[in-house]
Amino acid sequence: MIPESFKQELLDRVDIVALVSRYVKLRRSGANYLGLCPFHAEKTPSFTVSPAKQFYHCFGCGAHGNAIGFLMAYSGLGYVEAVKALAESAGLRMPERAVSPQAAARRRRETELLPLLERALAFYRAALKDSPRAIGYLKTRGVSGETATRYRLGYAPPQRQALREAFADYDAPALVAAGLVIEAEGRRYDRFRDRIMFPIHDARGAVVGFGGRVIGEGEPKYLNSPETAVFQKGRELYGLLQAREAIRAAGRAIVVEGYMDVLALAQHGVGCAVATLGTATTPAHVSRLLQLADEVVFCFDGDAAGRKAAWRALEVSLPLAADGKTIRFLFLPEGEDPDSFVRARGGQAFERMVGAAQPLSAYLLAELQAGLELSSAEGRSRLVARAAPLLQRIGGPVLRLQIGREVARLAGLAPGEVERLVAAPGAAAARRAAPQRAPALAVSQERNLLRCVLSKPALLERVEPELLDPALPESAVLRALREEPAAGARAAVLVERFRGSAFEPVVADAMAAAIDAGLDESAVEEEFAQIVLALRIRRKQEEVRALTERVKLEPALAAELNRRVRELHELKAQRA
Ligand code: UTP
Ligand code: MN
Repeated sequence: MIPESFKQELLDRVDIVALVSRYVKLRRSGANYLGLCPFHAEKTPSFTVSPAKQFYHCFGCGAHGNAIGFLMAYSGLGYVEAVKALAESAGLRMPERAVSPQAAARRRRETELLPLLERALAFYRAALKDSPRAIGYLKTRGVSGETATRYRLGYAPPQRQALREAFADYDAPALVAAGLVIEAEGRRYDRFRDRIMFPIHDARGAVVGFGGRVIGEGEPKYLNSPETAVFQKGRELYGLLQAREAIRAAGRAIVVEGYMDVLALAQHGVGCAVATLGTATTPAHVSRLLQLADEVVFCFDGDAAGRKAAWRALEVSLPLAADGKTIRFLFLPEGEDPDSFVRARGGQAFERMVGAAQPLSAYLLAELQAGLELSSAEGRSRLVARAAPLLQRIGGPVLRLQIGREVARLAGLAPGEVERLVAAPGAAAARRAAPQRAPALAVSQERNLLRCVLSKPALLERVEPELLDPALPESAVLRALREEPAAGARAAVLVERFRGSAFEPVVADAMAAAIDAGLDESAVEEEFAQIVLALRIRRKQEEVRALTERVKLEPALAAELNRRVRELHELKAQRA
């Protein structure tokens, strides 16, 4: 359970315009921002984002929500994941009681392990300075002193317990937990011995693990830290700390396979490269990079292993391939890796290749056709069968449509026929998000009131619950909001409370109306006053009607009736 107060703080902190702008091109239009809806295909923008309400609504397909909802719908994250992702980007820490006991334990271990890893790195770095052999090796690999400093390279000396020098308590269990020391048959020894050390940093810049390369020939060529409480290979990328700014500036991240590739590229002016850690590309890798840049280029060796890794990268990228994001694939000539290429041909030649790398669509289409005979009906149907599950997973609706059309063309089908075979999950989500609205009934004053309150939450305290028609869902919503007032909360916060409840459509509907009305604060206040007046008049009319009936039996009530009628007229006179 995520505490209500945390959600409030989060929704108060994030800016939905900035969030949505990462994925959708928005332009200002009056009080709101407008763009092409990412949840359905459209030519004229009806996707509206309100900065004041921190809410979006598509007047074309009905998709709507706050920042959390947007992230869920857009990236397919679950609720908790979406809250986490937002919190991370807003620099908020999920409160302790929201995290699982395992996560809490992990945090405790973090505070224990990270300083050890940092201390080990300091030791390895000092050892590198003292080792002409290690320095010599790096020189033969073309690594400059500057690069070695920037990437904080080190050297693990050959002694079995070299780390004793850095750790007075070499027997501490935490050294094993940190992956620095191995314990076998009651004896302890350093995991890394006589290796060039590549520290792996996490997103916060903390050292969480190491890669260690033998000097010269030897097996295994690279030894990596095991997964520990602070190190998960599927999450971290080598060199991201150093590449972050270059990635942002270039609007592009390049993913390569090796530590040395990252170093060589950086040294040749290609600063935006990172490497996976000897593991396959994961969605966490891709989404982290896509948060920093609009383009990710995967660079693989041209051999069979590289092709296999590339396909895997494509598969994990599909759901993250939003419209407005570009994912490309670059295959190097056989026998080359980025390190050898850039050293032989220079950074600019590498950049040119990257610029010409195959877009995901082209790579996907080429792979789909591989080995198929499209001149036969069987071949064409195989193509569609292969394509359908992949198309379905493409995150960006427009990209999905484009590639779908191309598949249709290759298969000799009409585009609509392929689209029908590929029930787009995005479209389904949008349909779900757009409840069939009842044919426009007269809009109730309660709905108008709710709309005003969502435009200006401070008005909530001026709502008089006894004036509300208890039969209407809007009344229940208003009452619930009054019972638990969130001082100074934005509308998006108020709305969050109704997620998943029966009232969600009602709230969304009022929110859409509020965004649509686009009134400024004083206009909202004016309208609010008029609605309250109308509600009072309605109430008075009901009293008058009831008394009129009773007076027939109890003439003594006539004076009372007259008083109410006068009050009714006075109220009516106040109308604008
Ligand atoms: P490569 O074998 O392509 O090595 O492994 P490389 O990066 O070109 O290394 P150099 O140029 O010979 O020094 C690519 C990556 O795969 C992982 C490492 O992350 C490495 O950078 N790997 C490779 C291992 O984890 N263990 C190994 O034994 C080999
Ligand atoms: Mn290499």
